[in-house]
Amino acid sequence: MDRLLVKVIFRGWNRVPLILAVAGVTAAFASCSSGNQPQVKHPSYVTTGQFTTAHSTVLSAAKDYFDVYPTDVQQPIAFTHKVHLKNGMQCTDCHKGVAEGPDATIPNVQLCMTCHQVIATNKPEIKKVAAYQKEGEQIPWHRVYWFYPSAHVKFRHGPHIRAGVDCATCHGDMKQQTVAVRKAGLDMKFCVSCHRLHKAPTDCTTCHF
Ligand code: HEC
Ligand code: HEC
Ligand code: HEC
Ligand code: HEC
Ligand code: HEC
Repeated sequence: MDRLLVKVIFRGWNRVPLILAVAGVTAAFASCSSGNQPQVKHPSYVTTGQFTTAHSTVLSAAKDYFDVYPTDVQQPIAFTHKVHLKNGMQCTDCHKGVAEGPDATIPNVQLCMTCHQVIATNKPEIKKVAAYQKEGEQIPWHRVYWFYPSAHVKFRHGPHIRAGVDCATCHGDMKQQTVAVRKAGLDMKFCVSCHRLHKAPTDCTTCHF
């Protein structure tokens, strides 16, 4: 399938949408028929915590089927970016991989508890965090940003951070968000128009595999 895709890309890219659509439908059927099998691990999945795209509702499952990205992901803890950023924390305190690796990574529960052993310990949400640590489990965060495997997109943070692109360009202003909410419009036009502007590479294989 991948080799075929590459061939089609080089032969003429007007036919790629069809191929990708077929791949998408096939993948959707495959995931339907696999019932309760574990979700597909995304290629960039590297985190000490657990990261899933499990569906919280039938509606979000239906959206997934049609390759629409959900903006209503339910998280296991009512985490708040707003409060932590107001308390002077930096993105890289928690998303340690963002400048070096392909993955920003989500902090593990041990990091949370370095502070929450003493901060806000009586709050119900913090008690839940503490319970995960006590059980030796990670918080099962649901992934907010990803590309469907059928789109064959590869993304890396490193080059963007080194080129000085602000997180908010792609993720919105986190100071206004509690749990992260997917910013709309992370489509090909968005990526390519900035690449043109900054003379970053725009050949298909830069972003597709
Ligand atoms: C550097 C210290 C620090 C770290 C690390 C940290 N927090 Fe916090 N957190 C705070 C502070 C300070 C507050 C605000 C407490 C307050 O207002 O009483 C807070 C508030 C919260 C709240 C809101 C509590 C409430 O109901 O008012 C939640 C939920 C939370 N943190 C979860 C987490 C999770 C999950 C992690 C790990 C991913 C984490 N925190 C990591 C310092 C930290
Ligand atoms: C050019 C756009 C862009 C910029 C700038 C950007 N991101 Fe991302 N980010 C993405 C995309 C796209 C994904 C989904 C990646 C994937 O599925 O491969 C993502 C995923 C993530 C994730 C999910 C976990 C992971 O490891 O992939 C976190 C956390 C994250 N970004 C944090 C940040 C932080 C923090 C910054 C700034 C220091 C930042 N991002 C800057 C586009 C961007
Ligand atoms: C105290 C730790 C902490 C800090 C500081 C923090 N984050 Fe997060 N971030 C988290 C946690 C925990 C999650 C998972 C819950 C969620 O999705 O909101 C997360 C999720 C995200 C996601 C969605 C990841 C996904 O699932 O695709 C993005 C994007 C993100 N953060 C960006 C940022 C940016 C940009 C900053 C700085 C402006 C920042 N974060 C600061 C802890 C933190
Ligand atoms: C705001 C501007 C901007 C946006 C939006 C943006 N990029 Fe980039 N991208 C850059 C810059 C600047 C570089 C660095 C080029 C360099 O290092 O010479 C880069 C580099 C890259 C690279 C590495 C290229 C290499 O050197 O091999 C990839 C892959 C990439 N971007 C993919 C994406 C994808 C996928 C998206 C959309 C989700 C995206 N970019 C959105 C500006 C952007
Ligand atoms: C700078 C990054 C980047 C470059 C360069 C790029 N793409 Fe994309 N492409 C994307 C992203 C991001 C998506 C959207 C994936 C999603 O939302 O699921 C996408 C989606 C697509 C789709 C699916 C239909 C659609 O529009 O959502 C096709 C087909 C496609 N790209 C073909 C190509 C071809 C052919 C080239 C070379 C001429 C190319 N792309 C160059 C980033 C890029």
